[in-house]
This record gives sequence, structure tokens and C-alpha cells, in this order.
Amino acid sequence: MPYTVTPWTVEGDVDYERLVKEFGVSRITQDLRERLRRLAGGLHPFIARDFYYAHRDLDKVLDDVEAGRGFFLYTGIAPSRGPMHLGHIPSFMLTRWFQERFGVNAYIMIPDEEKFWAKKVDSLRAVEERVAEVERIIAALGFDPDRTFMFRDREYIYHLYDAAVVVARKINYSVARAVFGFTGETSIGLVFYPALQIVPTLFERRRPLIPCAIDQDPYWRIQRDIAESLGYYKTATILSKFVPPLLGMGKMSASDPRNAIYVTDDEETIRKKIMAALTGGAPTVAEQREKGGNPDVCVVYRWHTLFQPDDSVVAGIYEDCRAGKLICGDCKRMLADLIVEFVNRLRERAEKADKLVEKMKYSGRLARRMWGWEFEVP
Ligand code: TYM
Repeated sequence: MPYTVTPWTVEGDVDYERLVKEFGVSRITQDLRERLRRLAGGLHPFIARDFYYAHRDLDKVLDDVEAGRGFFLYTGIAPSRGPMHLGHIPSFMLTRWFQERFGVNAYIMIPDEEKFWAKKVDSLRAVEERVAEVERIIAALGFDPDRTFMFRDREYIYHLYDAAVVVARKINYSVARAVFGFTGETSIGLVFYPALQIVPTLFERRRPLIPCAIDQDPYWRIQRDIAESLGYYKTATILSKFVPPLLGMGKMSASDPRNAIYVTDDEETIRKKIMAALTGGAPTVAEQREKGGNPDVCVVYRWHTLFQPDDSVVAGIYEDCRAGKLICGDCKRMLADLIVEFVNRLRERAEKADKLVEKMKYSGRLARRMWGWEFEVP
């Protein structure tokens, strides 16, 4: 089945194993997982359950940890038309986990121009309406406010621009077009944008580690081509699959409300959307009781594997579904309970996060340093 994965378009039934080969990334092996578990003193369920499944140079990050050189984290989100949805949360959860386990700096970019240039949103004002909510949700995930710097491109641009100028010159249009799939309709803003997204990988002379979904890989491919020639490290990445949309395959995206759960959805809306989700169940309850369901193709089961922290509960759902003991309605209700609690807790924390946002942006230890950061112009 054909599919497309670029930073701006994900369509079709993504073949994640094929993507590993196409993008030239590496699968996270069991050995690497165990090494990370040892050094981190545990393993995040996203990695243990193969949701974060591919990487570039994660092994070198662990070498750096062992050698005492350290590393730093970088991730981001580009506000768009709709509110933040649950597909946007895992990369921040994992970034926060790495920060907590290794005590390292984290940089969070909020490109408040990318989706405007990508024509996913009609006005900059519409982007601005989203930014404060995005910042509060990110802060609510528990980053260390003295070791995290969160910035918006259009506000921080004076500091980014020198490096972007140098990076931009190193990227030829033919390469960018091939990597990103630019067409005659692409705005020239978007053609320049990758230079900006690469800049934070040059914030420290240490190896960056970027947790994100695999759609962002094209940026990092280019970064890795040019970083060493500028005297910086090639970025390492840890890459996830996509949180699937509720009604099918591919990537949950902000622009389709039936398919996405937004951090702004109330309990009733969340329950309604989940009760309508696609499952791997049999056509009738009687048939399901007799033959069992198929969790391997079920969006609801997939969501359990992402948001249910308890391994034994996930294993129980799988077995009971296969055995016909658990029917889809009950399984969806379990998921709805889980997601309602997750979203409510996140929102409660976000409502009280203004002080944390302020520290991550301006007054925390790392933020203060970064407002004095200048790229050393070669
Ligand atoms: P954006 O805003 O499209 O998405 C933000 C982050 O969420 C990931 N993501 C998903 N992960 C799992 N399931 C999904 N359904 C899903 N949808 C989105 C994206 O991979 C991304 O990590 N260009 C970026 C913004 C950015 C950035 C970065 C991202 C700037 N600097 C550094 C990662 C790392 C963007 O438009 O992301």
C-alpha cells in the first residue's frame, strides 16, 4: 500500500520497517535497549514497547554518558490551526524522561512560523492564539525549569539568525527538494525554514539527542551532512511511530477533530470520540465471544499500549481480546477512563504552570544563559 511520510504530510498505512530502510535510520535493538535501561536505571514504556523504535547514534549518546561528556536534548512543536492533540505529547514526555534520568539540558523550539509557511494555518494571529496553551501544556509535563529553555522563533530570532544564515548556505536546493519533497507550490519561507530548525542542534558543543516522530527525520539527515563541517556534532535521534488517528491508520493530526483527542476536549467529548474508534473486533458480539478480536490491527489496543503505564494490564487486554473475553465496548470504556484521567491531570497542571513557563522561557538558569547566546560566526 502506498504511503507518504514528510514533515508536513503523512498519508496511508505507514510501513515503519520499510521506512527504517528508506530513511537510513537504525532499529533500536534489544541490546541497545538493555544498555539504555542500565544507564538510565529503567526504561520508558514508549521504548520498552517499541513505540520509539528507531534511532541515529543513540549508542554514541550512551558512549558520551559513559565517558562523562554528556549530551543535550532538543525537541519542538509547531503550533497550527487546531489545539495540541495527544499525538503531540509523547515526544515531550520522552524528552522529559531523558532529562530526569540524565540531568541534562533540554531545548524546546516553538516555530511560530513553520505551519504558516506550510499553509496549514491561514494567519500568524491564529498561530499566536495557540502558543500560550502549547507552552503551558509542555511545562505541565514536568521539565526542570532551570535546565530547560523554551523559545518561539519569532521572538528569539535575533539569536538564531546568524547560525541560520550559515546553515542555510550549506544546504543546496536540490538536496532540500529531494529530502523534503518541495514542489512549485511550496512557499520560499518553507524552503528556508529547515535552516532554522537545525540551529538548536548547535546550541552546545556536545551531542544533541532529539526525541520526535519519524516524520521529522529529513531535517536531521541534512543536519548530519553539515554539522561537522561547522565544528559541531551530528545530531542523534530517537524516533517514534505515530499515535494513530482514532478512525484509522497513519498519523493523528490537528486538523481532523473526529480523529484526534485534543488537550482541550472535555470528558464527554473524549468518551464520545473513543466510543466511535476503529477496533479489531468481530462484526457481532456473539462472533467476538466465539472467535476473539484482533488487537494487532486495533487502534484502541494501540492506544492502551501508549497510555497505560501498567504492563500487566496491557498484556491482559491483549489476551482477553484474543480469547473473546473482552469485548470492544468494555475495552473502549477502559481506554476512555484512562484518557480522561490523563487529559484532566495534564490540564489541571497546565492551569497552574504560568510560573514554570516564565522560568523555562526567561528567568530559569538555562533561559538566562540562552538570552545571551550568540553563534560564533565562522
Ligand atoms: P509538529 O508540530 O508537527 O509535531 C510536534 C512533535 O510531535 C510529533 N508528532 C507525532 N508523534 C506521534 N504521533 C503523532 N500522531 C504525531 N504528530 C506529530 C512530531 O514528530 C514532533 O516531534 N517541525 C516540527 C517542530 C519542531 C521540532 C523540532 C520537532 C521544531 N524543532 C525539533 C521535533 C524536534 C513540527 O512541525 O512538529
